[in-house]
Amino acid sequence: MIELNNITYIVEDKGNKKVILDNISIKFEDNCVTAITGQNGSGKSTLTKIIIGIIRPTSGQILYNGTDITNYSIDERVKLGINYAFQQPITFKGLTIKELIDIATKQENSIPKACEYLSRVGICAKDYINRDFDKTLSGGEQKRVELALALAQNGNTVIFDEPEAGIDIWSFDRLNKIFEKNKSYIVVSHQTKFLSSADKIVVMQNGKIVQYDDAKTVLKNLKHTTCKKVEE
Ligand SMILES: Nc1ncnc2c1ncn2[C@@H]1O[C@H](COP(=O)(O)OP(=O)(O)O)[C@@H](O)[C@H]1O
Ligand SMILES: [Mg+2]
Repeated sequence: MIELNNITYIVEDKGNKKVILDNISIKFEDNCVTAITGQNGSGKSTLTKIIIGIIRPTSGQILYNGTDITNYSIDERVKLGINYAFQQPITFKGLTIKELIDIATKQENSIPKACEYLSRVGICAKDYINRDFDKTLSGGEQKRVELALALAQNGNTVIFDEPEAGIDIWSFDRLNKIFEKNKSYIVVSHQTKFLSSADKIVVMQNGKIVQYDDAKTVLKNLKHTTCKKVEE
């Protein structure tokens, strides 16, 4: 279980201190799909980067199954089983997708085995397996490969930052199908359809968590706050 205790993240912005995350405490439950939602700039991506270790909090503590991992590197966290797919994928010129899958799984895979990961995210695997993971792929293709690599790492906690972004015909049924039993998923998303299929929803606003509850309960409240003008 990932637990954040009093996480604050402050940056210097044009000489001023800017509070990006403001004293966040939360326990992400095991074997759950937890969606994180909230307006642009509310701190969702920053929160996920703090969990994976890309950025360090200014103060506060991160626990993983009771172990304090606040000072662990990204690599150490990946080894523990915390995996991440970026909102903006990072491409690697000179490495094929097959090679990257081998790196993610830490072993050489047969072609059919490597293809399985790509098929799971809706890619026609044989067309892609020997291509470089570079900018010649469309944004949506990069995003799918990125998701496949996160799945190939085979951790028990997988974090996706807006997996639907840039994927035009991304099917939510497929997204739900890639979730496996006995694993935990933390997924940043704006899509109501995805949110309603999650177990738990976290709502962020101005660097704070303003709601965290069962998806049904949160969606009821979200309707009141976000759709007022439309309903009037
Ligand atoms: N290093 C930084 N310097 C200045 N502002 C930052 C920095 N990192 C994030 N921010 C700001 O913090 C806010 C939260 O960013 P982010 O976590 O990416 O939001 P979200 O993913 O919810 O859209 C945004 O206003 C963003 O511009
Ligand atoms: Mg973001």
